[in-house]
Amino acid sequence: MTAEGNGGQMWGGRFQGRLDPGFAQFQQSLPIDHVMAFADLETNRAWSAALAAAGVFTAEELELVQDAIEDLAEHWLEHGLPEHDDAEDVHSLVERELVARCGELGKRLHTGRSRNDQVATDLRLHLRECIHDCLEGLRNLCTSLVEKAEAHWDAPMPGYTHLQRAQPITIGHHALAHTEALGRDRERLLDAFRRLDQCPLGSGALAGTAVPVDREALAEDLDFAGGPTRNSLDATSARDHLCELAFACAMACTHVSRLAEDYVFFASYEAGFVTFGDAVSTGSSLMPQKRNPDAMELVRGHAGRVQGALMALLATVKGLPMAYNRDLQTDKATLLPAMQETASCLQVAALAVRHATFDLERCAIEAGRGYQNATDLADLLVAAGVAFRDAHGIVGRAVNRAVELGVELQDLPPDEQRRLLPQLDVDLRAALAVRAVLDRRNNIGGTAPERVRREAAHWRDELDAWTAAIDGDLDGANGDDDEQ
Ligand code: ARG
Repeated sequence: MTAEGNGGQMWGGRFQGRLDPGFAQFQQSLPIDHVMAFADLETNRAWSAALAAAGVFTAEELELVQDAIEDLAEHWLEHGLPEHDDAEDVHSLVERELVARCGELGKRLHTGRSRNDQVATDLRLHLRECIHDCLEGLRNLCTSLVEKAEAHWDAPMPGYTHLQRAQPITIGHHALAHTEALGRDRERLLDAFRRLDQCPLGSGALAGTAVPVDREALAEDLDFAGGPTRNSLDATSARDHLCELAFACAMACTHVSRLAEDYVFFASYEAGFVTFGDAVSTGSSLMPQKRNPDAMELVRGHAGRVQGALMALLATVKGLPMAYNRDLQTDKATLLPAMQETASCLQVAALAVRHATFDLERCAIEAGRGYQNATDLADLLVAAGVAFRDAHGIVGRAVNRAVELGVELQDLPPDEQRRLLPQLDVDLRAALAVRAVLDRRNNIGGTAPERVRREAAHWRDELDAWTAAIDGDLDGANGDDDEQ
């Protein structure tokens, strides 16, 4: 124990009584923050070097402290992190273990420092790994989607608005639509990282440190590309970077929930576009015939929980007086599981997409049903000199007649065609064929197969760049021009 009072708490000097056991447990954060143990060791290592440079430790003392830190790291690597211990938090635990290894020197390590700047620093370091896991999940999911696009760039399927058949699209176009959204989520994560990539260590409890440590060197030592934070009050109490990460995660999960919903629908008997493989399907305890898309349903369900984390963080920070308040300790219990959940959702969705097989024949047949080529018929009338609004009315009436007769537009009997569409003298079967309808939409962003093939190639290059950058991203996200 590092102090005499209150059960040996590190802050126990002025206390005679002990903490109520119920409160002691309530205020303990070790069950959550033990995951930051290695980040805390790294922070301790850098701080000990900064103290030595400022003359607080001699070179020999520094070596002893750093040996103790290394020894503790090895111990935990071998035996795992202690989740259950009576230490109040990971910082108290580390201090106690270091004092056990290097005695007096371990007690001097807290010179000029507070747990407030320590936890702010540890968490930022730890979040790099969490972001890394989310980026990896995003890359895997996008890879699954791009593989679908590469395989089915020219495969037609019905396209929907309002969940009503609208116009045919290609399966590849659908896959790349979700890829685009996830690509923005990646940008958001990297952007949030850029803002959290600053070093709070050396801010003390609130007012800065009285020890002349070189905070620039400290930031560099800990690989914070954005340098040291510039205001100690803000640095010890700011949590907007956590809110931003929670938003980036919530948005990514929300996007994944839309993908999940699409695939759940695709896998329904009514749509019949997709079958999920055994690896990602489950059955019913009662109904022997069932094959349920649980993987995608769970992913859809988790999204709501991650959204909840964002609201919880915002509500925690709202109205907090400057600077640190203990409310902030709850941030980790909210954000860390949400980030883990995000990474898992992305990985499971990647798996589900990979194990989803499209029934190409059925998709192609259904792409040609339900008057999805009506807009193209109107466009043909426009080409024949009819104003679009008039063409819209003419085709609307033609659709009504086709519905009555139970045929598609191109199958209207010749006399009906002449009566309803006298302006047209074209082979409707050819002009309204699904492939023709798709091919017409060959402008940037359109669903024409040739366009989709090129977009899939573009995304393949993007993914290669993501893969190459996935470690570099978090080292190099702060460019030189971001210097503060
Ligand atoms: N465990 C705390 C947290 O996660 C850090 C300790 C700060 N404690 C204090 N009384 N200032 O925020």
